[in-house]
Amino acid sequence: MTPPPKPNRQEPVRAAIVGLGAMGASQPPHGRHRATESGLPQSHASALAAIGGVEVVAVADVSADARNRFLDTWGGRWPNVRTFADHRELLAHVTPDLVTVATPDHLHRSIIVDSIDAGSRLIFAEKPLVTDLVEANDIVALAAVTGASIQVNYTRRFRPEFQAAQRELQSGSIGPLSQIVMRNGGPRAMLFRNTSHFVDLACYFAASRPEWVVADFDEGFERYGRTYGAEGGADPALEPGSNLYIAFEGAARAFICDRKSAYREQTVSLIGDAGSITLSSAGVVMTFDDGDGPVQRPITIGSINLGVQVAIEDLLRARFGTWDLTSPAKEAWKSVAIIDAALASQAEGNSRVAISYPSNVGMQGRRRIRASLSSGSSGRSSVSLTDRTARTTPKVQ
Ligand SMILES: NC(=O)c1ccc[n+]([C@@H]2O[C@H](COP(=O)([O-])OP(=O)(O)OC[C@H]3O[C@@H](n4cnc5c(N)ncnc54)[C@H](O)[C@@H]3O)[C@@H](O)[C@H]2O)c1
Repeated sequence: MTPPPKPNRQEPVRAAIVGLGAMGASQPPHGRHRATESGLPQSHASALAAIGGVEVVAVADVSADARNRFLDTWGGRWPNVRTFADHRELLAHVTPDLVTVATPDHLHRSIIVDSIDAGSRLIFAEKPLVTDLVEANDIVALAAVTGASIQVNYTRRFRPEFQAAQRELQSGSIGPLSQIVMRNGGPRAMLFRNTSHFVDLACYFAASRPEWVVADFDEGFERYGRTYGAEGGADPALEPGSNLYIAFEGAARAFICDRKSAYREQTVSLIGDAGSITLSSAGVVMTFDDGDGPVQRPITIGSINLGVQVAIEDLLRARFGTWDLTSPAKEAWKSVAIIDAALASQAEGNSRVAISYPSNVGMQGRRRIRASLSSGSSGRSSVSLTDRTARTTPKVQ
């Protein structure tokens, strides 16, 4: 394992992107974002281009077309960028400070592990972290041993509306969290590819360990099996929508309602004993009882969504010392473990499957979450009415 180079504040962060498709390399959307006066940086390349002091020195993709497209789109911005067909070849020639990973869902592990082995200490990985629990255990163990910082791009953790809901929850205004109810649906209800966002959100809001899971997959996926069965996330027909019931340590329970046959409407409700917070296309709204019956008030968001840029900037803070990432690999491990338990539950007739923890997978507690929330208005002033027995998880050394 190569020791990492010492970071130097005067020098730019040398970055590499692996996987040059839509998420890795697309241009910002056309049109002007109301706050940034340009397209919202949604891809890794567009986010890196928006962050000062970062230079993309190398990229890799197995597709020559994708490499050529990258040069056409971004060659003017980074004229010295080197292109490779294989990430290992890239790592043999260049040691980037930061490697971003935007390959298909099941092809993240070796890029993360090889990059850390080669000396990179900042990894920005697309979600899901990986599609296999043993791989997730390996990655968390490697991060612990090397001190590498791995941020997983669960975009909602970085979005102002979800952070505003988290702040309101942490303020105690709806009481202790009892239920998290989320609705997704439509053809892209896909367990690994998209439902993983909601699984991660449940972990974000519950802020404790998931303990057990019951799953009920879409018709036609009853015998999906115990391992990932898709091709990277492009084909919705290869992944089930899945209703999930997740029990967290403490009292909180999460229902994720996610069937392909259901109308596609994404909503999240956080329910305490004194009120609820609902996120939907209508915004973030709190409901509580003022003594005369239920009243509603909108929660002020307070900042704008800067997309992937914020997630990478959060990671770059770890360059010169310890920084609690907003979406670290240890948190993303929980989603992999929940999905692994869901596969087992379905395979065993929708049974209850316990999650067991390798010793070095910690939990992101409430204190940590409070610290990560950017300061901003809680919106208070803007009132308006209107067993199966535990499965054995391989021990991480
Ligand atoms: N965070 C989000 O909200 C979000 C949104 C969309 C996609 N994603 C994730 O981003 C990842 C990529 O998705 P996409 O839509 O950009 O896919 P894509 O198919 O558009 O791009 C993937 C690229 O990876 C390349 N590739 C495949 N195998 C490779 C390998 N071994 N080494 C190097 N390159 C390889 C392909 O040639 C392709 O150019 C997925 O994991 C997906 O889940 C995340």
